[in-house]
Amino acid sequence: MIWTVLLLVNGILFFLLLSSRSRSKREPPLDKGFIPWLGHALDFGKDAAKFLTRMKKKHGDIFTVRVAGHYVTVLLDPNSYDAVLQDSGSLDFSRYAQVLMDRIFKLRLPNHNPTVEKAIMKQHFQGKSLTYLNSTMQRNLQALLTSETPPNQKDWKRNGLFNFCYGLLFRAGYLTLFGGEQNNNGADTKQIYKEYRTFDDLLTKMARTTLNSGEKRVAGGARERLWELLSPTGLSESSSPWLRHYRQHLREGGADTDTQTKAMLLQLWATQGNVGPAAFWLLAFLLTTPEAMKAVRREFNRLSLNTDTTQAPTLDPRQPTPVFDSVLEETLRLTAAPFITREVLQNKTLRMANGQEYDLRQGDRVCLFPFVSPQMDPDIYLEPETFKYDRFLNGDGTPKRVFYKGGQRLKYYTMPWGAGSNACVGKPFAIDAIRQFVHLVLTHLEVELCEPESGLPAVNTSRHGFGMLQPEGDLFIRYRHSIGNNIL
Ligand code: HEM
Ligand SMILES: *[C@@H]1O[C@H](CO)[C@@H](O)[C@H](O)[C@H]1NC(C)=O
Ligand SMILES: *[C@@H]1O[C@H](CO)[C@@H](O)[C@H](O)[C@H]1NC(C)=O
Ligand SMILES: *[C@@H]1O[C@H](CO)[C@@H](O)[C@H](O)[C@H]1NC(C)=O
Repeated sequence: MIWTVLLLVNGILFFLLLSSRSRSKREPPLDKGFIPWLGHALDFGKDAAKFLTRMKKKHGDIFTVRVAGHYVTVLLDPNSYDAVLQDSGSLDFSRYAQVLMDRIFKLRLPNHNPTVEKAIMKQHFQGKSLTYLNSTMQRNLQALLTSETPPNQKDWKRNGLFNFCYGLLFRAGYLTLFGGEQNNNGADTKQIYKEYRTFDDLLTKMARTTLNSGEKRVAGGARERLWELLSPTGLSESSSPWLRHYRQHLREGGADTDTQTKAMLLQLWATQGNVGPAAFWLLAFLLTTPEAMKAVRREFNRLSLNTDTTQAPTLDPRQPTPVFDSVLEETLRLTAAPFITREVLQNKTLRMANGQEYDLRQGDRVCLFPFVSPQMDPDIYLEPETFKYDRFLNGDGTPKRVFYKGGQRLKYYTMPWGAGSNACVGKPFAIDAIRQFVHLVLTHLEVELCEPESGLPAVNTSRHGFGMLQPEGDLFIRYRHSIGNNIL
């Protein structure tokens, strides 16, 4: 008994010692929270947007919080974001990314070289090679949608819109990028999707290491089955050029087969985890905002389709669609909530836009959360909680790119894709996939809400910080092939 007490006292003293950090005048306001070590971890995990908005009210645009033993300096002034984004010398992107890689994917790459990997990705996802991916994705989306709603079937089908969008885009994306590989079990895309969703539902808890033992088993099981489904028995000619190139790079770096398979799951997440949820929110906003739906349909009806291929007619990616683009920008403003996290490699002074300077400590993390500002900032956007489809359009129908905060023009008025040298490599591919998908759904399906009165589902707040938000529950729709439209 006495030993237990002594140990406890010791433990408490140790905690006090650890939490004895105090703030110097040149550092941002420090808020450690009341719980030793954990600090604000619980509030942070439950709803980061709510927590950080509260801290912003209390401390201003920059402050340091303790989260599960780490000190995280949060910066919420978009006019000062460049001070973080442009300093890749002192602020490092890949270390924290590697922590997450290990926690979620159990992946440790030998000779990991993020620069080369990104160059490979750019080569295939940007510029000329994108033609191939854009059109393969279109073909896969069309084929899946046709098998989902055969033209000769007139009965309504019922599904959750989130499951419908995520399922179709995930499977089309999988076929486009990974599809040609021969897998152990002749992997069926529906099964991969199902396992992936189980895994995805527990992903934030894996990242925060807050899985309970039951969840650990479920997550581990899904991960094992995904590894099985993604493990190659050899490279086939029909997997995407990017995947072949990437795998060759892994082999040359000395990654064994198991490690290569783990890397495949990481890439599956990076390439498929955000597109489906983004398309869901976009269609959900359109289905609940009649004037937005009307404007997008009007724009789509005026587009000429690309009929000079042997395939069914497709949207030409070069045709401007300013109304759709504004709808997408507005959707992402409301539902893209990534943290942009960097590790402080060496002590550094951060200079804010207003001239104020703050010292950052080596070993801490810096975190931008553009969802709170600029995206939901009432100083920038009128009624920021409301979906306004034409928010990113000028009066004359051209794209609107000029926004102000405190009289100063903003370089970053919304940041769903991150920014700076680590911004999203897949942006043009993702935009094309979402646009093609929405166009296909609106022109070839009849879609109705099952309960038009019930409105949008609530946001699952535990995903704040992990890219695209997801709904709690789903928005139920019925749909069928639209009569009189036989293009599919
Ligand atoms: C709606 C869809 C998507 C959204 C909202 C999105 C968002 C983001 C964000 C915010 C980052 C930056 C993270 C940071 O700076 O810390 C990022 C990075 C990245 N994204 Fe996306 N993404 C999407 C789709 C895609 C797709 C389809 C691909 C691949 C084809 C992709 C590949 C990547 C890669 C490789 C990086 C890492 C860049 C680096 O290492 O510097 N993303 N994405
Ligand atoms: C692919 O689609 C994107 C988005 O629509 C577009 O910006 C890009 O130019 C397209 N690329 C090619 C090569 O067709
Ligand atoms: C919210 O998201 C978390 C993490 O992805 C998940 O575990 C939980 O089941 C979700 N809650 C609801 C109600 O969908
Ligand atoms: C960095 O700053 C901290 C706190 O001000 C200080 O204790 C530490 O010695 C500094 N480290 C280096 C390497 O200068």
